Amino acid sequence: MNPSIPTRIADLPRHIGQSVTMTAWLTDKNGKGKLQFLKLRDGSGFVQATVFRAEVSDEVFEAAKRLSQEQSVVIVGEVRADERAPGGVELSVRDLSAVAEPVGEYPITPKEHGTEFLMDHRHLWLRHRRPWAILRVRDCVQRAIADFFHDQGFIRFDAPFFTPNAAEDTTELFEIDLFGESTAYLSQTGQLHAEAGALAFGKVYTFGPTFRAEKSKTRRHLLEFWMIEPEVAPSDHRQNMNLQEAFVSSLVRRVLAECGEELGLLGRDVSKLAGAAEGKYPRVTYTEALSIIRTHIESGDLPPNVQPDVQPVLWGDDLGAPHETIVGHHFDRPVMIEKYPAAIKAFYMQPDPQDARLALCDDMIAPEGYGEIIGGSERIHDYELLRSRIQAQGLPLSAFEWYLDLRRYGSVPHAGFGMGLERVIAWICGIDHIREAIPFPRMLTRMSP
Ligand code: 4AD
Ligand code: MG
Repeated sequence: MNPSIPTRIADLPRHIGQSVTMTAWLTDKNGKGKLQFLKLRDGSGFVQATVFRAEVSDEVFEAAKRLSQEQSVVIVGEVRADERAPGGVELSVRDLSAVAEPVGEYPITPKEHGTEFLMDHRHLWLRHRRPWAILRVRDCVQRAIADFFHDQGFIRFDAPFFTPNAAEDTTELFEIDLFGESTAYLSQTGQLHAEAGALAFGKVYTFGPTFRAEKSKTRRHLLEFWMIEPEVAPSDHRQNMNLQEAFVSSLVRRVLAECGEELGLLGRDVSKLAGAAEGKYPRVTYTEALSIIRTHIESGDLPPNVQPDVQPVLWGDDLGAPHETIVGHHFDRPVMIEKYPAAIKAFYMQPDPQDARLALCDDMIAPEGYGEIIGGSERIHDYELLRSRIQAQGLPLSAFEWYLDLRRYGSVPHAGFGMGLERVIAWICGIDHIREAIPFPRMLTRMSP
């Protein structure tokens, strides 16, 4: 026989009729008498291998029978086309040997396990089909992000993880003691540093871990999540919303084009993503959103996961998760809610010239109950106004002197936004908790593995 070609499962369709060799792991097996079916994975994909007693030596057949779940094995086999098989191919085993003997029994058996058990074994659970699909979508989204911004002339600009001051809600800061001499904080946004980047490079985006000391245990919150924060100078509120729409729709299109197998494995109804892929996202003001919410509550036309006793929002209050769900359900694609009351938003947001009670900001709300995926705004570019806002919020002016320098020297209207990576992945994948959208989630109730 010809020498075997080293390969991975994903490349098997290119080797039909050839002999290949690969290292794989056993996910499952069943067999009867003269035939063993081995379900294999190698990270690049999944394939079934058949071992016929008549086609291999007795030792190889016995070795195949002895294989246990997740045992590593080196296989030599012939690739056969098989229309019924998931990847269109199967493997006829010619030779096989276990790489290492397992120590004890693999804990994640094919039976049903609760999510807590699976998360306790996340280091092993990662090998299974569901995490495989979700985390490959994550990789696809990350590549799509880099490509989108590169194509638009942005540079990636890394903000520090240790920061000297709060930029969002001061109650959500993780404090770091610097040898008893001073205090730093884990970054809850890269925005302020991205603004320095935008004034230096025009178009930048940060992309890194972000930390929020939020005690809330919801399906949408992690203590550590990844945020993408583009910042553009010059730019304004409207251009900022256009960029968000172009950006998010490009990510959805890319996943639909590249991750059909993964979305299929997750059972995702991709028709629900068609509007998001197309673009043309509706834009409503905060005030209009309140009336959409009120109408739905009054008519009892509520999404399934919203409690019937949900109350309308009073003008001036922030939207809660059920309210975002109602607005999200009203449309077949993401919706941008703009011009929130300035009083419930961050200090750096430019006031609406038509109504100073409002901020030139927007949140993008995903459909199907996934809630806010983006928060963005035009930034205050006037030195005096920004300075007075910092003081009015009771923030330490000294910590913001460098930030004020961006307005002292060559200030221009500029804008940007932040998108939570895990929220977007959870939505695109159609999974109900964002903890599965990151390899190792960090939450109040989960710091390990
Ligand atoms: O709306 P946020 O707080 O906006 C900012 O931080 C701005 N400084 C961004 C900017 O303009 N550059 O957060 C932005 C996004 C949210 O829309 C959400 O998707 C995500 O970050 N996010 C979280 N994701 C997971 N877990 C958490 N605890 C999150 N908090 C915010
Ligand atoms: Mg927000």
